[in-house]
Amino acid sequence: MSGPLVVLVGPMGVGKSTVGQLLAERLGTGYRDTDDDIVAARGRTIAEIFVDEGEPVFRALEKDAVRDALAGHTGVLALGGGAVLDPDTRALLRDRRVVYLSMDVEEAVKRTGLSAARPLLAVNPRKQWRALMDARRHLYEEVATVVVATDGRTPEDVTRAVLDAL
Ligand code: S3P
Repeated sequence: MSGPLVVLVGPMGVGKSTVGQLLAERLGTGYRDTDDDIVAARGRTIAEIFVDEGEPVFRALEKDAVRDALAGHTGVLALGGGAVLDPDTRALLRDRRVVYLSMDVEEAVKRTGLSAARPLLAVNPRKQWRALMDARRHLYEEVATVVVATDGRTPEDVTRAVLDAL
């Protein structure tokens, strides 16, 4: 099947972009990120789209961005943390090489902090994180062909683990 060599999924802040770029370098291929595609197409940040247009608009843009990237990109593809919420997106990920980068709550708080750039975690991040993961963990697991835990590991280390697992 054509399309991305590897698709990275997992929660925000887990390191999909950093690991994705390292992975692309190691594999000698391109890197693409659906969040970047949306920002480029819309000329606005993700936070601006969430605040001004609302999450449903963002999710519709994301669904289209994922579909286009799965059809048109042959390297490493990172999806936004909530992309797996969409059942059609999950169906498109079937039969693909999908790596779920996971982390526990303490690692998540350490990495994402109180970043205003991540609207879903802006208030009470630990509680929000738990709620997000309760709703999504099984979806990441459903689409994943490989799970790589990132807790306490550097991006280089995680990249090596992903390469070993492919
Ligand atoms: C989101 C994750 C973000 C971005 C948006 C919503 C989510 O992407 O798409 O803020 O719902 O988890 P990253 O996972 O790349 O941070």
